[in-house]
Amino acid sequence: MRLDRFLSNLPRFNRQQVRLLLVQKRIRIDGLTVSDPHAQVRDFSRVELDDELLQAGTPARYFMLHKPPGCVSATRDPEHRTVLDLLDEPDKEHLHIAGRLDYNTTGLLLITNDGNWSRRLTQPQTKLPKVYYVETEQDLGPEYISTFAQGLYFAFEDLTTQPAELLILGPRCARLAIVEGRYHQVKRMFGHFNNKVVRLHRERMGPLVLDDTLAPGQYRALTEAEINQV
Ligand code: URA
Repeated sequence: MRLDRFLSNLPRFNRQQVRLLLVQKRIRIDGLTVSDPHAQVRDFSRVELDDELLQAGTPARYFMLHKPPGCVSATRDPEHRTVLDLLDEPDKEHLHIAGRLDYNTTGLLLITNDGNWSRRLTQPQTKLPKVYYVETEQDLGPEYISTFAQGLYFAFEDLTTQPAELLILGPRCARLAIVEGRYHQVKRMFGHFNNKVVRLHRERMGPLVLDDTLAPGQYRALTEAEINQV
């Protein structure tokens, strides 16, 4: 929400008083004096007027989980274990998943309560690569590389996938970097060649790499440096 709106929503200030507070540089967001009425106030922001606290701000939380196979990337599920069941944290209902993985896909899963941050990671426009290790049922060939680089037409969404980079590591294993996360995207890309994905593991999302000290099912909070890289 815009700062001027946030302030005029408080019962004690009308629009004119808000303008004055800003001109007089009496408002601070996260410790910095702000006079721009368009400045953004988020749920996480600490907002102060002189020495008075107007909003404490809820803490932003960021976790990296090594997703094991056999659990769903959902916040709740009536039948199956969810990835959130693996987190021993309070107020889990405020958390969401930045880029889901299928039931049997393993690897890097990022969980946060910061919607702007997770959007930056997952939106195709930001072009952050999501890197997967893939094993397939049939042999791979060089035609996969050129087809994925050109993009594949997905009739259901009526779109062509963004160029993807495939590195063939062995007859039936490869590393694939995609910049978007369409429904079952990797499986559908290999499905174009009638080749079934038998193992799928996400190694990286943008700058964030799965910590190899995390066993499947384990998680940790992201460091300040990791959060700021996104
Ligand atoms: N693509 C898929 O097909 N499945 C996943 O879990 C992730 C990407």
